[in-house]
Amino acid sequence: MALLNILHFPDPRLRTVAKPVVDFDENLRQLVSDMFETMYEAPGIGLAATQVDHHIRLLVMDISDGRNNPRCLINPRIIAADGDEEMDEGCLSVPGYYEKVRRADHIRVSAQDENGESYQFDAEGLEAVCIQHEMDHLEGKLFVDYLSALKRNRIRSKLVKAQKQQVD
Ligand code: NI
Repeated sequence: MALLNILHFPDPRLRTVAKPVVDFDENLRQLVSDMFETMYEAPGIGLAATQVDHHIRLLVMDISDGRNNPRCLINPRIIAADGDEEMDEGCLSVPGYYEKVRRADHIRVSAQDENGESYQFDAEGLEAVCIQHEMDHLEGKLFVDYLSALKRNRIRSKLVKAQKQQVD
């Protein structure tokens, strides 16, 4: 087990479009396990491989209060979506900022688990929002992209300043 380094906005690596997972091997299972450890430690409710500089279509999440419902989605696809809602979102790659984003309220998802088994499920509310947010990461997209340029640029300069102070 190992904690992975989480990339922070505006790191250009967060803009990488992830490739499909084809090898369901020991390396993949190790990465999944490290991503869960990193997400729980952060703490966060979801983490996409993109955020830890692995550019494959993999995300982990756990929206339960007890932090005891780990879910791993590999090669996820949204096959149906309806309704919409607006929720405050945050992101481990944009630490300290929470902003409202509008997304589908109900989705049906198809994905594979870490052994390559396909499955489908319905999600709504926070779970649906979390999946859409993490799937955006796999496309190189961040929740700040939904904000006005003014807001996004303000967040960018504050994070750049914070990252500089850490280096100095
Ligand atoms: Ni995020």
